[in-house]
Amino acid sequence: MLWGGAVPDGKSATKRASNGFVEDPGMNRKNERLRIISDNIHNRETVADVGTDHGFLPLYLWQRQKEQGAAGRPIILTDISAESLHKARKNAQAHNASATFDFRLGDGLTPIGSGEVDAVVIAGVGGALIAKMLGACPEKTVSFQKFLLQPRNAVGKLRFWLDRAGFTILAEPLAQEGKTICEIIVAAPPQGGFVPADFEGEGADDIRYEIPGCASGWTPQQGLALPAERQAALYRAFLENKIRVEESILAQIIAGQEAAGDADAGHGAGASAVNQVAGQGATAQKRMVTEARIGALKTIAQREGIKL
Ligand SMILES: C[S@@+](CC[C@H](N)C(=O)[O-])C[C@H]1O[C@@H](n2cnc3c(N)ncnc32)[C@H](O)[C@@H]1O
Repeated sequence: MLWGGAVPDGKSATKRASNGFVEDPGMNRKNERLRIISDNIHNRETVADVGTDHGFLPLYLWQRQKEQGAAGRPIILTDISAESLHKARKNAQAHNASATFDFRLGDGLTPIGSGEVDAVVIAGVGGALIAKMLGACPEKTVSFQKFLLQPRNAVGKLRFWLDRAGFTILAEPLAQEGKTICEIIVAAPPQGGFVPADFEGEGADDIRYEIPGCASGWTPQQGLALPAERQAALYRAFLENKIRVEESILAQIIAGQEAAGDADAGHGAGASAVNQVAGQGATAQKRMVTEARIGALKTIAQREGIKL
């Protein structure tokens, strides 16, 4: 059994066990992130895991297929790093999963043939890198049916990019790994043609792209793989955390403004007065933006019936 037990605490370091199995100690416990990603892949779907590293997700999938009598489907594991692929191979061998695993070295979608699999997973890398992989060869990208994306950062940027490129977001479940609430994006590739996109443009800074469901019309109650109460709890924690971060930024801005005000009061008008005024204008602008972001987050929470 690869999972079962408590959610990993996130502090666990990768280590080599006595049997040679390169493992994360959290691996033998319940890893909600990997479970939610694999739960959004049906047994009948063929899969490639891009940037597989230790190959944990394919092991989850393989284990689940075995338990459900659906084992034997090939799973493609790719990574740009030969060392990572070596770790994945060792882990697969330790679990006798190698027969169904196909290991391929290479960048992004390059090692996978057009339409070779139904679902492509890209998890645990930055949002900008995910967009780069998906945008590198649009003809290939649109040949797959589904993407399971789990960006480690720049999630808002990635949602904006997906939206502009023409992807459809099907679901956005959350999952907790250690102290982090991970955002998972299940997306279908553009149906009406891939539109070249970047991270700039009108709406790129819209905070709604940073919140699961706000840009796509999906709501946390639609979570595919977690009970509605669990999704709602994660969603609430996610929003609370986001508001906390913005409030702390606002507090710093206000403290800076107050300190600058005190300093101004102590000096007469000097040569740097123009620069000071310009600096104060920029800070006031930052404050306005941050206050607006906090307001928008609170409105979203209210709309979702979340009492903060
Ligand atoms: C933090 S690990 C994530 C592992 C696993 N996908 C997960 O979610 O737990 C990131 C992996 O992505 C790989 N990687 C980074 N850039 C890549 C690229 N352009 N193409 C394929 N793999 C890449 C790295 O070598 C590394 O093994």
